[in-house]
Amino acid sequence: MSIIHESQEGWLVDSLSLSTCSVENEKRMTKYALRSDLFKIVSPFMMNSQFEKICKEEKSINLEVGVKERKKKRKRKAEKNIGEKLAEEFHTKVKHYVLEGYRSLVSAGRECGYFLSPAGSGSANNNLASREAAMAQGAGEWFVQLCQEPRANISVGIQVHCVQAGGSIPSSLLFNGLWQHKGDNCVMVQLDPGVFIIPPDCRFLISDIHQLEQACSDLGQFDLIVMDPPWESKSVKRLKKYSMLANSDLLSLPLGALMAPGCVVGVWVTNRQAHIHFITDQLFSANHIQHVATWYWLKVTKSGVCIRDIDDSHKKPYEVLMLGRYVVPGSTMYDRSKNQSDSLCCTDGGKDTADSPVIPNNKLVVSVPCSLHSKKPILTEVLRSYLPTSPRCLEMFARNLLPHWTSWGNEVLLHQHKDFFEEVT
Ligand SMILES: C[S@@+](CC[C@H](N)C(=O)[O-])C[C@H]1O[C@@H](n2cnc3c(N)ncnc32)[C@H](O)[C@@H]1O
Repeated sequence: MSIIHESQEGWLVDSLSLSTCSVENEKRMTKYALRSDLFKIVSPFMMNSQFEKICKEEKSINLEVGVKERKKKRKRKAEKNIGEKLAEEFHTKVKHYVLEGYRSLVSAGRECGYFLSPAGSGSANNNLASREAAMAQGAGEWFVQLCQEPRANISVGIQVHCVQAGGSIPSSLLFNGLWQHKGDNCVMVQLDPGVFIIPPDCRFLISDIHQLEQACSDLGQFDLIVMDPPWESKSVKRLKKYSMLANSDLLSLPLGALMAPGCVVGVWVTNRQAHIHFITDQLFSANHIQHVATWYWLKVTKSGVCIRDIDDSHKKPYEVLMLGRYVVPGSTMYDRSKNQSDSLCCTDGGKDTADSPVIPNNKLVVSVPCSLHSKKPILTEVLRSYLPTSPRCLEMFARNLLPHWTSWGNEVLLHQHKDFFEEVT
């Protein structure tokens, strides 16, 4: 069970159940899934200082209205800058789709008993359990540091290694080599000093962006590429969770070599307009990717309440997914701007893209978020009907692995550490 409900507005998705996998150990199968407390989001998000203040004032929180009622509007000192004004304009345009989808999908989730009643979902502990779970030791600092050490360049091609059940991965071979696990079950591997869970039928490459081009011929081509780039932002800089990349670095991604004809490319972005425009005007156009749809991921608590007020001026409760299709130069074009009904228009007589199902615009994915910083929902199920059967899928800038996917990034195994999983029945 991963899609709880589907409507014309979008999908209500359960990310926790998607993470379940079985490990064969001495002929006994044990099921693992991400720790359920990582998803124990019982109340809307707050800064610690805000929460402490509320506790002191002994104010009760009305979960149904989220942050809005208790939030005192801060007076702005300065006029909004151009970026803020553009973000507000964008929000005004998309808010309607987000709210419509929210109402239909959350009420369906309530009807089928997926959401807890606000009273039963726990009190305002500011999601302590989930925040503590996200602080699990995991691979620890040593892994992050190891991933960021400078390494020799890949020269010609890359080495391909097979993951062995119960085996180990020497850290000297971890980087700049393609690791694959062809089995039908998960396996546990040792990577000093931790144990990592490797899902079935997956591949991964840990390397810096500048080494990716040399690995392309070994990676092959893909029908779906999803990426969540490390955009430059003040909050990432302050939190120091990972290193950031400039837009010019993202333009050097060798997408042309990785996309099969008709490949669907999904790029996660906040509602920062400079980044959204960079995707359509530069990243997509430089790579012959036609922007076909914009989707939104709305984060809700376990009782189906938005994690922030929809109009929160600091951060919105949704994130944006820009979707495009690779059009082989000189072949059929899909051009939404020429046809309001989202159909295909031929420009040149090719057929690869014309055969691809049309991806609808303005869809909403609703889910309870994982408390690991910047963790995105898995899109395999919601994108399935727009892809070929048994699609070849690649996640770029990944921090975890997925069954039947190839994952690339500079710290891919980070969230595969056993500490983030638990046995389930
Ligand atoms: C926003 S995070 C991706 C989060 C991911 N979507 C998830 O759900 O966990 C961006 C990732 O890009 C990685 N990254 C940053 N600089 C990189 C580089 N030069 N080469 C490869 N990956 C890089 C970061 O370390 C981080 O893991």
